[in-house]
Amino acid sequence: MSACGSWVEVDRSALVGNVQIIRQIVGSRLILVLVKADGYGHGAVETAKTVLAAGADRVGVARIHEGAHLRRSGIEGVIHVLEPFHPDDLEEYVRFDLIATVCDLAAAQSLSDHGLSTGRKLRAHLKVDTGMARLGLHDSQDRSLIEQILSLPGVDWEGIYTHFARADDEVEATTSQIERFTALLEDLERRGLRPPVAHAANSAAIFRHPEAFFQMVRPGIAVFGYPPEGTAQTGLVPVLRLRSTIRHLSWKDAGQAVSYGGTWTTSRRTRLAVLPLGYGDGFWRGHSNRLSVEINGTMCPQVGRICMDQMMVDVTDLPEVNLGDPVWIIGPQKELSAIRLAKNLDTIVYEVLCDLGRRLERVFI
Ligand SMILES: Cc1ncc(COP(=O)(O)O)c(C=O)c1O
Repeated sequence: MSACGSWVEVDRSALVGNVQIIRQIVGSRLILVLVKADGYGHGAVETAKTVLAAGADRVGVARIHEGAHLRRSGIEGVIHVLEPFHPDDLEEYVRFDLIATVCDLAAAQSLSDHGLSTGRKLRAHLKVDTGMARLGLHDSQDRSLIEQILSLPGVDWEGIYTHFARADDEVEATTSQIERFTALLEDLERRGLRPPVAHAANSAAIFRHPEAFFQMVRPGIAVFGYPPEGTAQTGLVPVLRLRSTIRHLSWKDAGQAVSYGGTWTTSRRTRLAVLPLGYGDGFWRGHSNRLSVEINGTMCPQVGRICMDQMMVDVTDLPEVNLGDPVWIIGPQKELSAIRLAKNLDTIVYEVLCDLGRRLERVFI
């Protein structure tokens, strides 16, 4: 238990098992595990250590400072940065030995100038837009620019990649992106410009599009235990548990409005438990009156508005309940899944996990 009363538990064995499942699917391809946004809310450093020890080949982050943090924290493996490289950050890439993502000519030129003037070429991956319309050079409109960039001699062009917009829902859209990417790779191959490591597949594509494996895959959410919706029997196990404890217990008479705004009123003499968890911990107020938590094996309704630091639970029907009793909010069981929280607020499980606040200690078990 954590001294804070509420905490995030991270199950290392689940992380390891999920990496092994992905390894079985992708064979000898490189696995780059995304640990951006503090490891999808799980804690980037410990997650990176665990997945690398479990057989992942590399880790990736979105921002350069996330990569620097991993290095400073002792991560020695290969670290990719997915945000577009900016020439101002060159020193940091050198200092922390990070692999850059290149999305434009100016970035590529500055990397190349550096490589030529110092004799030390930095490793970089070129990002290509095949349908996501977010980052990267367009596979067809920017074809000559792509060739120009990959011809720059001062860069170690290790990789080239694209990202899928709809790998978790529409098959045709992803197939079209794979075809466009493949055509580009074949063209570059003919010109002697194809970087050795091509990659595209996020978690959903790993389970649905084996033709998108290329030389490396980039799973995030699957490593944390969540398969794409509708995929049967993946064996993935959710890694994160959100736990709390009862900090206060009281009886209220019937007719008592509970918490800010009086959005829930007791209809009988009611026993209320107070948990030290609220929107200040990234547990959204939108869940108010729409959620059950597990106490002593029984699902109990959360009642009244969730506050910044507390929430109330109706425990009247529990035969026995005591101060300090453990409370499960997110757990491996289906009824405690983070997916139910995402569905509650019409969002995705990524957002639920990433938003869990830093006030909640991450306890690796
Ligand atoms: C470029 C890129 N690759 C891979 C991933 C991993 O996606 P997922 O968590 O769906 O596996 C992400 C996540 O947002 C991403 O931005």
